[in-house]
Amino acid sequence: MRSLLTVTVNGRERTDGVPDNMLLVDYLREHLGLTGTKIGCDGGECGACTVLVDGVARHSCLTLAVVMQGRLIETIESLARDGRLAAIQRAFHEKLGAQCGFCTPGFVMAAEGLLRANGDPSEDEIKHGLGSNICRCTGYVKIVEAVQDAARELQEVA
Ligand code: FES
Ligand code: FES
Repeated sequence: MRSLLTVTVNGRERTDGVPDNMLLVDYLREHLGLTGTKIGCDGGECGACTVLVDGVARHSCLTLAVVMQGRLIETIESLARDGRLAAIQRAFHEKLGAQCGFCTPGFVMAAEGLLRANGDPSEDEIKHGLGSNICRCTGYVKIVEAVQDAARELQEVA
């Protein structure tokens, strides 16, 4: 069975016919070509597939595309504006919060969702907010520092 899905992805509303069993991550990657969202475990354990749905981080590998009817979805491709990285992307870059980078889009989107909900998170709140994301090579210290740096920058410009 297929259904018509109307959804706003990265600020653009679109309507597509999608199989009822298509996962959101496959819709984004295969249907829309937004391959910044990664598939790591494909089972809800690594967070590589994290996107924002109505501003809240969600694992797109555990979400059916058709249930996104009318929702606002943001992927890693939406963050940079006019060629300028978002604060959280710059902080990951400057703090060396990535090595292979495979986990990075998921971490960045989880952090972006966290910072929108809480502009001044404690270290524990950051660790809790990123608790659904796994990095195999950087380690978490640099990632937490990157989120702290981005929070500071966002507070300065607020
Ligand atoms: S690919 Fe979705 S949680 Fe790992
Ligand atoms: S940077 Fe390689 S898995 Fe996180």
